[in-house]
Amino acid sequence: LDLQPVDVLTGVNFERIRDAVDPPALVTYECAHVYPLSAPDFRADLPGDLARPKITIDKLYVHVPFCNYACRFCFYVKQVGAHITEKRRLVRCLINELERVQRGTVLSQIYIGGGTPTALPADLLDTLINSIKERASLAPDATFTVECSPESLGAEHLSVLRSHGINRISVGVDTLDENILREINRRHDRHQALNACRVLLETDAFINVDLIYGFSGQTEESFIKDLQDLAALRPHSFTAYSLRLNEQTPLLKTKGDSFRGDLERLMRWRAVVERAAREAGYMQTRMHTFVHESVTRNHYKRAPCIDGYSFGRQLGVGPSALSHLGYRLYLNAESIKDYIERAESGENTVGSGFDLSGEDQRTLFVARTLGEGLPLPLSDYESVFGHTFEHDFGPTLNRLERAGLVLRSDDTLLLSGAGRLVHDLVLRSFYPEKAKLWLDKHQPQF
Ligand SMILES: C[S@@+](CC[C@H](N)C(=O)[O-])C[C@H]1O[C@@H](n2cnc3c(N)ncnc32)[C@H](O)[C@@H]1O
Ligand code: SF4
Repeated sequence: LDLQPVDVLTGVNFERIRDAVDPPALVTYECAHVYPLSAPDFRADLPGDLARPKITIDKLYVHVPFCNYACRFCFYVKQVGAHITEKRRLVRCLINELERVQRGTVLSQIYIGGGTPTALPADLLDTLINSIKERASLAPDATFTVECSPESLGAEHLSVLRSHGINRISVGVDTLDENILREINRRHDRHQALNACRVLLETDAFINVDLIYGFSGQTEESFIKDLQDLAALRPHSFTAYSLRLNEQTPLLKTKGDSFRGDLERLMRWRAVVERAAREAGYMQTRMHTFVHESVTRNHYKRAPCIDGYSFGRQLGVGPSALSHLGYRLYLNAESIKDYIERAESGENTVGSGFDLSGEDQRTLFVARTLGEGLPLPLSDYESVFGHTFEHDFGPTLNRLERAGLVLRSDDTLLLSGAGRLVHDLVLRSFYPEKAKLWLDKHQPQF
């Protein structure tokens, strides 16, 4: 495969970009903690009641914290090897928490993620989905996603997903390279992964495949080959993540900072991923997401963890689940044991909370626009916040413009081709100082 040159990198001045985005020294480039989860103000002692108010919700996230193995790169809250009695217990807790959803609620998005929801036996997954459906229905065009991994998907799971009309299924493949699969401790092989995709594509659901680039030992050629082999099956979309590592990922201790200090390598990876996806017929719709050009319905989205940038109507249930209700974020107890104890004793399952300040809302506005690869409408910004964008972010904006990472066109601000390749670092440039300091403090030391 001839990989040279990658057009979007022609003439790019890496030094100037490095100066403009001030990359963190001790981290893979993708911010492993995403704002405002990386803010220091998540507190267990918020004044007032942490109990979540009764509120109308529009989106629901359910965290199923079980997996068949622990991938060495993964920082999600999960348990491997749980006994069936523990799984039943946890599902009962989720169902108790779902009592907060008022009967008759109509939702635009439901997302059952984890962990691996299909690591539950099919009958328990069925019970969980039934209990959601008893309380809430889906609006027309709404998305109901369930995540799965290739080896966990049995015929019974498929029939549960089919019978409930789940219309989006996301499968973690991550890589088809058998050596890397072993290295990262995923317990499925290439054949199982391709087969799971084939079987899923026989359902009526929109199928998304997760991939990761940047593993140690992974070459551009092997990533492109994986993408092509999967694309031949024609999943509706790919999500391609750059490997993100933080202090909770075991891989960091051994292979760790494979991108450290190598802005050029990161940008090249992303350029290669974009090009390979495009050549396979997939268009980039958000930073990590590539949708097949034949897909006309564009509403099959992953629910972001935070509902917009200000007033939220999103409820999260399960350990470590995040809710965004009104102007407050709520984080459920992160340890599974703590979560179960709280839920079973009728205590509040929320462990900490965070009030979105004006500064947080401004940063989230940038995250929801530029950070997702969408245009940032400057006059909307001004009418929402009462100041021009320049007033709030002038020096940052100038720096990024001089480095050619953002472009103005009429009333909008856009990422340039090079800006797209460092979208996370551009976004981090808009973080409040307190969040950058928090991030630097929480980067693992070697
Ligand atoms: C909850 S998992 C999906 C379902 C299932 N547990 C699985 O892995 O097959 C969500 C996806 O997030 C991605 N992911 C998890 N940890 C990551 C990390 N440290 N860096 C990049 N992507 C990661 C992986 O692509 C993973 O498949
Ligand atoms: S990536 Fe998926 S399967 Fe692997 S440990 Fe994380 S949640 Fe479990």
